[in-house]
Amino acid sequence: MDSITISNEPVTMTGWDMASFALSNKLGRVLLYGPPGTGKTYFGMNYHTDGQAAYRLICTEEMTDTDLIGGMTQSNDGIWRFREGVGIKAWRQGARLVVDEINRVNSDVESRLMALIDSTESSSWENQYTGEVVKPHANFSVVATMNGEPEDLGQAILDRLVVRVNITEPHADAIKALPEYLRELATTVTARTDEDRYSIRSFVEFARLYEHSKDATRSAMVTLPSLVEQLVDSVALKQVVGA
Ligand SMILES: Nc1ncnc2c1ncn2[C@@H]1O[C@H](COP(=O)(O)OP(=O)(O)OP(=O)(O)O)[C@@H](O)[C@H]1O
Ligand SMILES: [Mg+2]
Repeated sequence: MDSITISNEPVTMTGWDMASFALSNKLGRVLLYGPPGTGKTYFGMNYHTDGQAAYRLICTEEMTDTDLIGGMTQSNDGIWRFREGVGIKAWRQGARLVVDEINRVNSDVESRLMALIDSTESSSWENQYTGEVVKPHANFSVVATMNGEPEDLGQAILDRLVVRVNITEPHADAIKALPEYLRELATTVTARTDEDRYSIRSFVEFARLYEHSKDATRSAMVTLPSLVEQLVDSVALKQVVGA
């Protein structure tokens, strides 16, 4: 949590506050980085989208220009048409583009991705097949996510993601989405930085498995093996208090 004092009024912001502040005030280029399973992708896809669609792009070694921009594809009727990739689709619609695992982008498409996430005013792309020039809609926004550190990214990509936020704890809504009896334990365990940390995903899976099987011990052994005793206690307590 970052804290600063100006004229005796302390201002405290979590990483989530910073990302929300930027996006809700139309600063649409945000990098969220940190440990797995805190809700970075979920946040990018669902929060501050202003009612616009959200598209997810997962960066891989195999990713090509076609994924980002589009390419000619043959339809069932045999006719070749240009099919837009997620980047241009999001530009056109003023949608959110969530660029997951941005540190995995391969060098062949890196410059294309840079052009796509550049500031809205300075970007445009000409479709070489149709001659159409597409510019990003003013509402177009980008949330990039990664594990690891921003230094792992190339300088030029980093420079286009001005707001870089270290997310170290799960989003409050992710904790709230868990059954009540799991919340306290999940908050503690997901905040750990040692090898005993589990991400929120393990808690979500435990809750599902337990709900289905009604067997707390086995559900814990399968999803959260080092927390079996605590979970069995929490479940027992839930049954006593009816939580
Ligand atoms: N705001 C939220 N409300 C409800 N559930 C959430 C929320 N955020 C996250 N979750 C739950 O946590 C899971 C993990 O979230 P998500 O995939 O966004 O994590 P992540 O930080 O992107 O992880 P990674 O770094 O591994 O990609 C989701 O599948 C969902 O079950
Ligand atoms: Mg993710």
